[in-house]
Amino acid sequence: MAAKGALWLMMLPLVVPVVIATNTNNVYQPCADAKIQRSDGFTFGIAFSSRESFFFNQSLQLSPCDHRLSLSSSNSQLALFRPKVDEISLLTINTSSFFPDSYGGYMVAFAGRKYAARSPLAFVANSTYTVTSFTLVLEFQKGRLQNLYWKRDGCSSCKGKSNFVCLNKQDCAIRTSSCKGRGGAVDCSLGIQLAFSGTDKHLSVLNSWYEVENLRQYSLYGLYSNLRDSLTSQYNKFF
Ligand SMILES: *[C@@H]1O[C@H](CO)[C@@H](O)[C@H](O)[C@H]1NC(C)=O
Ligand SMILES: *[C@@H]1O[C@H](CO)[C@@H](O)[C@H](O)[C@H]1NC(C)=O
Ligand SMILES: *[C@@H]1O[C@H](CO)[C@@H](O)[C@H](O)[C@H]1NC(C)=O
Repeated sequence: MAAKGALWLMMLPLVVPVVIATNTNNVYQPCADAKIQRSDGFTFGIAFSSRESFFFNQSLQLSPCDHRLSLSSSNSQLALFRPKVDEISLLTINTSSFFPDSYGGYMVAFAGRKYAARSPLAFVANSTYTVTSFTLVLEFQKGRLQNLYWKRDGCSSCKGKSNFVCLNKQDCAIRTSSCKGRGGAVDCSLGIQLAFSGTDKHLSVLNSWYEVENLRQYSLYGLYSNLRDSLTSQYNKFF
């Protein structure tokens, strides 16, 4: 009996981390509603298209999941991701065969349907400039996604780097003509740093955002290069 008890105790430290890391979110579609806890996977999408195509009646920005936008029939691309909640991740979108400017040059991050959330538009690229580095904050309340927004650092990450231009005092951009496949030599793949804030469904605080702030001084590309792959696929599969 005593021996059995000892064995059980010894096993505990091995078993517990596995249980904590189990995914409880079985929602894999970006246009469906999920309620998450820390360590769950969370699916969201990023849509690439022109500025106008994200607006209904030229004035109201809707979620790309909203059929009134009919993004699936316009010139657009979709990337889907499933990062782990509250883990620092760098998403990459390889631009060796995908030029964002040929799909309108803007992107919107989104998830959910009844509880639809979408980010503001972010400029990615046109024939002159390409922005390659972004930070996206996913804000949850009681495990539901409330808000998605782009966090800017006022171009501090490219200060003094001669091949970058600061656009609108917020985005570090490179000349599109410097990019691979466009006449230049630079890999202009997009890097999207993720951060989570708010609370999960058990009211545990998500705080990877604070870690990202502290990490800003380092090159996140170097630390997290190729952490995740992206999947750019046809819209029609998901809408
Ligand atoms: C679209 O906008 C116009 C004015 O800009 C307005 O008159 C019209 O009612 C709007 N349509 C819808 C469906 O909201
Ligand atoms: C993008 O893909 C190309 C070709 O497969 C590869 O050479 C390049 O290293 C990739 N870039 C990134 C950032 O993964
Ligand atoms: C590209 O975008 C920049 C910044 O928004 C703008 O100043 C420039 O006029 C645009 N160029 C073209 C060709 O659209």
